[in-house]
Amino acid sequence: MKFFLDTANVDDIRRIDSLGLVDGVTTNPSIIAKEGRDFEEVIKEIASITSGPVSAEVIALKADEMVAEAHQISKWGENVVVKIPMTEEGLKAVHILSQEGIKTNVTLIFSVSQGLMAMKAGATFISPFIGRLEDIGSNATELIADLRKIIDMYQFDSEIIAASIRTPYQLESVSKLGAHIATIPGELFPKLWTHPLTDQGIQSFLADWSKFNK
Ligand code: E4P
Repeated sequence: MKFFLDTANVDDIRRIDSLGLVDGVTTNPSIIAKEGRDFEEVIKEIASITSGPVSAEVIALKADEMVAEAHQISKWGENVVVKIPMTEEGLKAVHILSQEGIKTNVTLIFSVSQGLMAMKAGATFISPFIGRLEDIGSNATELIADLRKIIDMYQFDSEIIAASIRTPYQLESVSKLGAHIATIPGELFPKLWTHPLTDQGIQSFLADWSKFNK
């Protein structure tokens, strides 16, 4: 399973990358805005830190404008993937871009049928949003299991990026259900590798060691 970092913060990317945990990066307009940096500059910097896919999202809503934006964005790095919203116009853009060999990540997927349409249009990645679905009481993990089943059954080339992951439990669930990738916010990572019993254990080992070494 692969882990992407869901951030445009280059310090977080460098820190987590140094642990060998980063296979790629995803961003969206809100994530970019949070950093207060130029879009092109920050994507180019991220694409130079990681060799894995780096998703950068279009702002346009019309297919021809999305395609034009995608042509610019895809020039920012060999590993840059163009993120396209899940709409009719978005599907049209994905279809054109896939024929041109430009990789796409179809974002804001909340149902099996949306995922299926994106795969069929030629999406490289599809991004179902787990946290946002659970916020409204929907069964998000079932969505991951169903999408994976469809990919395997019909041999689609698309990979699932489980997105909008906010808790360790959500990551554990999507891992067990076959998401190819999970994109994880920088602030969630420390919660994935820490446990209070680990900290307590270290403290008691050190206390015992110092008694023995007086
Ligand atoms: C995915 O690519 C999105 O950037 C992201 O996971 C959205 O997460 P949020 O629902 O926490 O904003």
